[in-house]
Amino acid sequence: MASGVDGGERARPAHVVVIGNEKGGTGKSTIAMHMAVAFANAGGRVGIIDLDPRQRSVSRYVENRVETVRRTGIILAVPTVYTMAGDGIEELAELALAAIRNEDLLIIDTPGAATELSRAGHVFADTLITPLNDSFVDLDVLGRVDPETLRVVSPSHYAELVWDTRKERARQGRAALRWFVLRNRLSNLDARNKRAMEAAIASLAERIGFTTVAGLGERVIYRELFLSGLTLLDLRTPGISVDLSVSHVAARQELRGLFNAIGFTDIIPNA
Ligand SMILES: Nc1ncnc2c1ncn2[C@@H]1O[C@H](COP(=O)(O)OP(=O)(O)OP(=O)(O)O)[C@@H](O)[C@H]1O
Ligand SMILES: [Mg+2]
Repeated sequence: MASGVDGGERARPAHVVVIGNEKGGTGKSTIAMHMAVAFANAGGRVGIIDLDPRQRSVSRYVENRVETVRRTGIILAVPTVYTMAGDGIEELAELALAAIRNEDLLIIDTPGAATELSRAGHVFADTLITPLNDSFVDLDVLGRVDPETLRVVSPSHYAELVWDTRKERARQGRAALRWFVLRNRLSNLDARNKRAMEAAIASLAERIGFTTVAGLGERVIYRELFLSGLTLLDLRTPGISVDLSVSHVAARQELRGLFNAIGFTDIIPNA
């Protein structure tokens, strides 16, 4: 984890994580929130840029967290939201550069649609995380899959956007983008579909250049705390009294596994 002197400029620029997928509702904002809280709770300085001006899910989440601190007096680490006043690409660049100077980690949450801002936001990514629902409908935005062999026939539009992003980063002389794809909302019920998805994703990974990481299960705990701005990673904070269930512990291990797999080791304590 990068470190710096509190209140001053960072010794190292922030690592930038973009959470992106042109398909809506795949868990981008949910992962952005959990990652931001995990990193902030571990003592890192976290900035967030929310490129979804209509839904503002991550911004709303942080607002709810600030309100919980105000209402209860419980001390919680709170990520800093860098808010866009308009929708200009120049403003985004200024905001991102300020966040990269000030924070250890910058998380950019993008909308489930192709917008100019989202495309521009992708170019800042050192790490790109793409969550997918476990469905061929979701996979279709990454690549066309042969229904019989489950091999990839051709990349589709989001894969092309990532390809353009890689080219733009290379043109700017920046380090190669690391791209991780994970399956979200996995259930135990659909073993056949799961296996077919596994085969198709493995073929895609090879063809369009991403690493597959273990995904998150379908669990109420990932959504039920939104209104309070809390996550399951806050449940041991003094003043918060929620009994830890088996599902909470499993969710914690899942998140830990995800962050370890993308190189953010040990931001969630193992207990
Ligand atoms: N692992 C999970 N278990 C249970 N519910 C989940 C999980 N991941 C996401 N959800 C729920 O699924 C819905 C979509 O998630 P989220 O808003 O994070 O997706 P998104 O990709 O940001 O959507 P959009 O493209 O609209 O911005 C939300 O209701 C969220 O609470
Ligand atoms: Mg979202």
